[in-house]
Amino acid sequence: MTDPTTAPRTPLIVDVDTGIDDSLALLYLMASPEAEIVAITCTAGNVPARQVATNNLAWLELCGYDDVEVALGAEVPIVQPLMTTEETHGPQGIGHAELPAPTRPVSDRHATEVWIDAVRRRPGEIVGLVTGPLTNLALAVKLCPELPSLLKRLVIMGGAFNHAGNTLPTTEWNIAVDPESAKIVFDAFSGLPAERHPVICALDVTERIEMKPEHIAALAREAGSTPEEIISPEDPEGTRSTASHAIVRHLSDAVRFYMEFHRAYDQGFLAHMHDPFAAAVALDPSLATTRGATVDLELAGTLTRGQTVADWRGMWGRPHNAAIVVDTDPEEFFRRVIERVGRLARTVG
Ligand code: BDR
Ligand code: CA
Repeated sequence: MTDPTTAPRTPLIVDVDTGIDDSLALLYLMASPEAEIVAITCTAGNVPARQVATNNLAWLELCGYDDVEVALGAEVPIVQPLMTTEETHGPQGIGHAELPAPTRPVSDRHATEVWIDAVRRRPGEIVGLVTGPLTNLALAVKLCPELPSLLKRLVIMGGAFNHAGNTLPTTEWNIAVDPESAKIVFDAFSGLPAERHPVICALDVTERIEMKPEHIAALAREAGSTPEEIISPEDPEGTRSTASHAIVRHLSDAVRFYMEFHRAYDQGFLAHMHDPFAAAVALDPSLATTRGATVDLELAGTLTRGQTVADWRGMWGRPHNAAIVVDTDPEEFFRRVIERVGRLARTVG
């Protein structure tokens, strides 16, 4: 791993549907000295796109990031009606957290314009990170077909390969919301050299990223927050944090909701941190072991619509278009989260 304080800065376009785990992804990036957040684009998914924008602006303001552009994007998928999941992420998408209302508006530019403008201005430099449905990126690719070759790297949280889905038996949420967009994006990378292929953080690996109460406690200690931050499974649902430090307090309230949700679905009192993992990989690909594959989307299946299918063995006779994450070190990831977001929380107070 390179030293983040001396590493060259990575310019990022971050496309999100914030979202509890998207929230921690944003905190991770704001806490990372090597990240230059060029803009945040909002897509509808976990909650409607305007709520996503409000959440993004609120997290940025809380952390003193007042100058990062937040652009609204697609408010609906390109073909099917929008589905949202307040059940998973809370009425506003941030669990039990109640962030101060942001004071600044969204950008007057559309998300697709932001993507296209950024890659044209800085060809070969921008790292794209998408932790929501791929709607904005698909629209941008339609308008600017050379976009995939202008990116330095693309990291996507989405899909399920040799792993059960979390929305339908074989379908992961971000893909399920807008499968047509996912197909447009995967197709757009076909024929590009391997170093341009999107890095896919699918459920196969992101469900190994299990945040537990002790991770939040450790992050709070790193921040110097008091009292000790204990999210106990014995607490009544909706118990609120009294942490002295604002980021710890709001993050704990958000993550508690996610843990309660996972418990309700028999996954234990923990939370899968899909999106923060993808953010960490976007900054440091060495955190992930990948394997090349040809990825395509099932759009017609009556039971399997939205399934991501990986041809690992060349059976289709088509070139690879994706690098699928097949392994990582979850403890190293959490070490970084605790150190970085803890430090940010200490600084903000
Ligand atoms: C993905 O779905 C969303 O609910 C999460 O934010 C994550 O991006 C996991 O399937
Ligand atoms: Ca998300």
